[in-house]
Amino acid sequence: MIDLRDLRDEDEATLYQWRREAEVDRWMSDAAFPSPEAHQEWFNRLRDDSGRRGWMIVRGDAPQGLLTLAGLDSHHRRGEWAFFIGAPDARGRGVGRAAQVLGLDKAFGELGLLKVWAEVMADNDAALKAQTAAGFRREGYLRGHVLKDGEPRDVVLLGILAEEWRERRDAARKALAEAHLIAA
Ligand SMILES: CC(C)(COP(=O)(O)OP(=O)(O)OC[C@H]1O[C@@H](n2cnc3c(N)ncnc32)[C@H](O)[C@@H]1OP(=O)(O)O)[C@@H](O)C(=O)NCCC(=O)NCCS
Repeated sequence: MIDLRDLRDEDEATLYQWRREAEVDRWMSDAAFPSPEAHQEWFNRLRDDSGRRGWMIVRGDAPQGLLTLAGLDSHHRRGEWAFFIGAPDARGRGVGRAAQVLGLDKAFGELGLLKVWAEVMADNDAALKAQTAAGFRREGYLRGHVLKDGEPRDVVLLGILAEEWRERRDAARKALAEAHLIAA
């Protein structure tokens, strides 16, 4: 079963290892690959900053990826979404699909958000397909919006509203439970 759990101290090392994976690094828009110290600082901020939440995506006890929401202290009640599946052999097996349902449930349930939005590089077909399948809609296209390895790259803006999630939620959870990806 796929689940989301709160971050633990030992996750920092796993996340740093994943961050080095070419297939993960490829889609990250940070200024440069982080030093171990910068990564530790980022991890501490993710855990301590009241405007952010981060969860490990796990299958049983095994970490598979990371899901984060940022900007939660905004009075607009929206959160900026990011996620990746870090374990290479976990991709393409429904883990991302399940994590999105669980994450959107937390965002619109427990956290009471009205909107979740994301920036995705325009050529990241897998992420765009996965997020569209989860109910995100395309809201914009930003040309040359981020610099990746010194090259300007286009970005797609995606968003999902609380009422759109409410309409999808039961069917999405039922389908995942039938696929034995989440508990019924
Ligand atoms: C993109 C990503 C999060 C998707 O998660 P995943 O667990 O691999 O995806 P799932 O197996 O749950 O598939 C969900 C949907 O995503 C799409 N998808 C997944 N992998 C895909 C691929 N390689 N190419 C095209 N579409 C893909 C499909 O639409 C799929 O639905 P389907 O099974 O009904 O066809 C994951 O592959 C990943 O983290 N990749 C590397 C880093 C990255 O791109 N992160 C996102 C940055 S925004």
